[in-house]
Amino acid sequence: MTDLLGDMRRTHNCTDLGTALVGEEVTLMGWVQTRRDHGGVIFVDLRDRSGIAQVVFSPEENTEVHDKAHAVRSEFVLGIRGTVAARPDDMINDKMITGAIEISVNELRILNRATTPPFLVEDDIEVGENIRLKNRHIDLRRPKYQKTMLNRHKTAQAIRSFLNDQAFIDIETPFLTKSTPEGARDYLVPSRVNQGQFFALPQSPQLFKQLLMIGGFERYYQIVKCFRDEDLRADRQPEFTQIDMEMSFVGEEDIMGIAEGMVANVFKEVLGKDIAPPFERLLYSDAMDRYGLDKPDLRFDMQLKDVSTIVETSGFKVFADVVKKGGMVKAVNAKGCMDFSRKDIDGFTKFVAIYRAKGLAWIKVREEGWQSPIAKFFTDDEKKALSERIGMEVGDLIFFVADQPKVVNEALGNLRNHLAEKMDLINKDEFRFVWVTHFPLFEYDETAKRYQSLHHPFTAPLEEDYQYIETDPLKLRSRAYDLVLNGCEIGGGSIRIHQRAVQERMFKALGMDREEYEEKFGFLLNALESGAPPHGGIAFGLDRLVMILCGMPSIRDVIAFPKTQKASCMLTDAPSMATTAQLDELAIRVKKIESDVE
Ligand code: AMO
Ligand code: AMP
Repeated sequence: MTDLLGDMRRTHNCTDLGTALVGEEVTLMGWVQTRRDHGGVIFVDLRDRSGIAQVVFSPEENTEVHDKAHAVRSEFVLGIRGTVAARPDDMINDKMITGAIEISVNELRILNRATTPPFLVEDDIEVGENIRLKNRHIDLRRPKYQKTMLNRHKTAQAIRSFLNDQAFIDIETPFLTKSTPEGARDYLVPSRVNQGQFFALPQSPQLFKQLLMIGGFERYYQIVKCFRDEDLRADRQPEFTQIDMEMSFVGEEDIMGIAEGMVANVFKEVLGKDIAPPFERLLYSDAMDRYGLDKPDLRFDMQLKDVSTIVETSGFKVFADVVKKGGMVKAVNAKGCMDFSRKDIDGFTKFVAIYRAKGLAWIKVREEGWQSPIAKFFTDDEKKALSERIGMEVGDLIFFVADQPKVVNEALGNLRNHLAEKMDLINKDEFRFVWVTHFPLFEYDETAKRYQSLHHPFTAPLEEDYQYIETDPLKLRSRAYDLVLNGCEIGGGSIRIHQRAVQERMFKALGMDREEYEEKFGFLLNALESGAPPHGGIAFGLDRLVMILCGMPSIRDVIAFPKTQKASCMLTDAPSMATTAQLDELAIRVKKIESDVE
């Protein structure tokens, strides 16, 4: 092996160079972006982390170096020593930072060759994501990812500096641990030493951070990986990063205030933008009523309107029956969209079907009256009432969904976002924050036939609702809060239960008997009776925050090595089979996978 670098050392980054350095000798190192042979003179765009500079190999200046440059191809790694020269006037490129100069090369070292890259290292390329992920080391060279990773780094720095200033202490918590319920499946790690037993990778450091409060640290934070085996989407990965924090002797306002300050510091440091806390607040019940979702996008209005009381007694049986059975009918007004085609409407009907809506009724408000498959079912009075409640005007297109509230809200809430995109109502430069508060403490799981926590079982109930914990659990609201940015839940937290008796009552309400909760959470219950201070906290999704900061469509774009939709890593081919020896050591036998069976 030869040390091709030898004594050569970089003196400048590509974009450090400008006309001020004309005549000086510089040494650059980087990759070949492009090589152009202009019949004699060879131009290479050399790229390093900072950007691109043009280097020139001229046969007249240096024949030996020029001959060597013939071998150079895209993505070769070069070290060059040369003299900075002003470009002739007609060669100046205003679009490049270094467009006024070039480097006339005196020495070329090919530090490494490269196979032909599977795609160009530039931003606008049409290449399938799988090919990019398989070659992520090349993908990451593209300016887009260089910038995103730098912004991710700056975000983490801004968070740390803010929290350090606020007296938070960064403490690590274990990855090999016991299950912490956050609503997803656990990733299990088999124990070799204790055969047949498993660790769970943490879905969050929730219980450890509470134990740290009981341990007397008062203010904790950590930028930490969390692991959740759940169905993946654009804003979900099986391993993702939380900005996790917890504080003692605080209420909701204290935590929300710190979180707002932290987010404002990030926007200032990373984007140079001033965002002005305090952020808007919205009760969960209002969010659901007006927007159908607990993470409403407030960059546009288009609120949902409940028309149940108007249609309940109408001649349209679909609507009337749903209301009589305890369901609801809501409408959303796509203002001025009367000209959407039948095909568009069919598309929206398919869209709401994803959320289990059984249909999508519609009305086009024309000058001459309503055009609608359901208009004939309504009396003039009903039409007038609907028109008023929905705020119908000529040119509007109204959509209705009738079903149980969960379906109606999910279908219309998502349709509202979908319509706003299509109608171009969203200002992409706006950052609109809202805290959603007063969530229900429990939801009823129809399949398991039991109550479950909407956040996690350690969230404190609202004092005034606590009395209903056994009699009317769905009535209980929690002391939880989510921070929503542009329709994305970027953070969530709560004030915790800090008394053993309350925590036990909570476990019981969740259908656990003493034996079960002692086995799973005995360590927490013991800690709670050892002098636990009142405490609470929050965790942010770092990936989601950076995704929005960088204007990216998916968190896969802000993670250096993300997993695919199928929770696998294209680059390393993980997960993969274990060897028989490994499995034997762990005393594990893999059941035959169904597809293998004849
Ligand atoms: P929660 O489950 O709401 O709360 O998670 C906090 C934040 O983490 C982000 N997030 C995710 N990001 C990417 N991929 C995922 N699979 C994923 N799941 C969650 C979201 C979310 O708001 N222990 C509690 C926090 C607390 O109570 O303090 C918790 O984990 O942005
Ligand atoms: P139908 O009488 O079933 O042909 O339905 C008439 C219109 O009502 C169609 O446009 C359907 O899409 C719509 N529709 C049917 N069921 C529902 C529902 N549950 N919610 C909203 N619209 C519905």
